[in-house]
Amino acid sequence: MELPINFILNQKTVEANLHPAATVLDYIRKHQHLTGTKEGCREGDCGACTILVGSLIEDGVQYKNVNSCLMPLGQAEHKHIVTIEGLNCSQLSPIQQAFVDEGGTQCGFCTPGFIVSLTSYLLANDNYNIDDAIDSIAGNVCRCTGHTTIKRAVKKIIDSIASKTELTGDKISSLISLEILPTYFAEIPTRLKTIRKAKPSQEYEQKSDFIVAGGTDLFVQKEDELRKSKIKFYFNDNSRDKVWIEGNQCFIDAKAAISDFGNSDVIQKYLPEIKKYIRLFGSLPIRNRATIGGNIINASPIGDMTCILLALNAALHLEKDKSTRQVQLKDFYKGYKSLDKSIDEILTKISFELPKQNTLFNFEKVSRRIHLDIASVNTAMQLKIDNGIITHVNISAGGVAPIPLYLTEMRKSLLGKKINSSTISEALQSALSEVNPITDVRGSADYKKLLLRQLLLAHFHKFSPQLIEEELTL
Ligand SMILES: Cc1cc2nc3c(=O)[nH]c(=O)nc-3n(C[C@H](O)[C@H](O)[C@H](O)COP(=O)(O)OP(=O)(O)OC[C@H]3O[C@@H](n4cnc5c(N)ncnc54)[C@H](O)[C@@H]3O)c2cc1C
Ligand code: FES
Ligand code: FES
Repeated sequence: MELPINFILNQKTVEANLHPAATVLDYIRKHQHLTGTKEGCREGDCGACTILVGSLIEDGVQYKNVNSCLMPLGQAEHKHIVTIEGLNCSQLSPIQQAFVDEGGTQCGFCTPGFIVSLTSYLLANDNYNIDDAIDSIAGNVCRCTGHTTIKRAVKKIIDSIASKTELTGDKISSLISLEILPTYFAEIPTRLKTIRKAKPSQEYEQKSDFIVAGGTDLFVQKEDELRKSKIKFYFNDNSRDKVWIEGNQCFIDAKAAISDFGNSDVIQKYLPEIKKYIRLFGSLPIRNRATIGGNIINASPIGDMTCILLALNAALHLEKDKSTRQVQLKDFYKGYKSLDKSIDEILTKISFELPKQNTLFNFEKVSRRIHLDIASVNTAMQLKIDNGIITHVNISAGGVAPIPLYLTEMRKSLLGKKINSSTISEALQSALSEVNPITDVRGSADYKKLLLRQLLLAHFHKFSPQLIEEELTL
């Protein structure tokens, strides 16, 4: 079923009459012939298809870089979609010029993606530094130039603009005055407000075959099926309030992207270490689209957010026909990809108790490469020690069972005990008795068991390095 989808593409207001599950990549290349955006892997891995998506939030537009190969066109509605062509100014922008000067481009296939991601970095941040700028292109892969020249280009950009006085005040005006953005960007907020937002008919919504959130799992697994189906979107990119507090509970909108969760004021205040762990989740364009709800419902035994939320002993809030119910995340998984959820129930929010003062939290993930890879084994632990006694503990483990595991036996073995080497040693034995990994491409069952043991030990090492160093015999 085709639907009218209205948005601004670069400088032009467009109405696309296509199936909402057509990808933005196909629309811009095949229908608009904007071939600067490249098609590489179509799986979110290479970054050749990176575009900017601008969403109207209150009176401003917030831009994020995303992989257009995994973004359904229906979610472009009411947005500003920017391809590399839409970033052209009267001359090469300082970003483009730096790539030329430093030899950061060879065949050029990857270059538009790098330029778009770096533009997004400059748009999304107030203070610039080389490490963060390089992190912002972690999802862009170059197969021929070698990343050293690209890094040199990044350094040149940051060195040349970080101290510019033009960077004070409104970000978009500043970047226009530095000729990093073309002038038409200034009119986009006003223009977006006038765009008609076509709503799918109620009948269409009620009969949806698929709920699509960020689409980062669905478009890799089922793109063809989605194009023949009725889909309903469940994604929040037009409000700021995606994580909030009620009493002693933290609530997360299930439609929140992983990056919004990590950047939220509540998480930065109560669990500041999460921001660092989230850098291990895909690349920034993936984190800008992947939702917390999608990670939980996808039910991968190695889902990173699921692993973190299990160790926060989170509860899920499910809704169907306006009736709601709550289930603990640790009781939600019944078997491999089998959930305590009916087909038409929607996960609306997730909640967990705000950590009390001096509560420790740690997440460990081992994958075949540090960035842009799914885990072989992951685990998280929340721990509170009062006067040497463990008074609160939750532990999760991924990649060691058909489901993301909450380690019940290990928790029992730790709770109320004095923290010392024999307690830890017994707890590790308990943990290993409740896991059952399989041998697959990410490692043998024995390797994963050993890995989990070491990662659990790593939690204690982070919390109390002295204790572990004194007890090397563990
Ligand atoms: C390149 C790449 C790298 C990745 N790296 C990681 C990684 O490092 N760690 C990791 O854990 N994952 C990773 N993923 C997997 C994926 O990004 C996550 O699982 C993501 O959180 C899925 O969220 P989504 O919004 O994109 O889900 P979608 O693909 O939109 O949906 C996934 C499933 O959940 C259902 N669903 C979504 N939201 C709801 C809801 N609120 N209620 C009911 N059903 C719902 C959908 O119908 C679908 O069945 C990666 C994926 C890619 C492509
Ligand atoms: S084509 Fe490779 S990330 Fe989209
Ligand atoms: S310049 Fe050829 S892939 Fe990067």
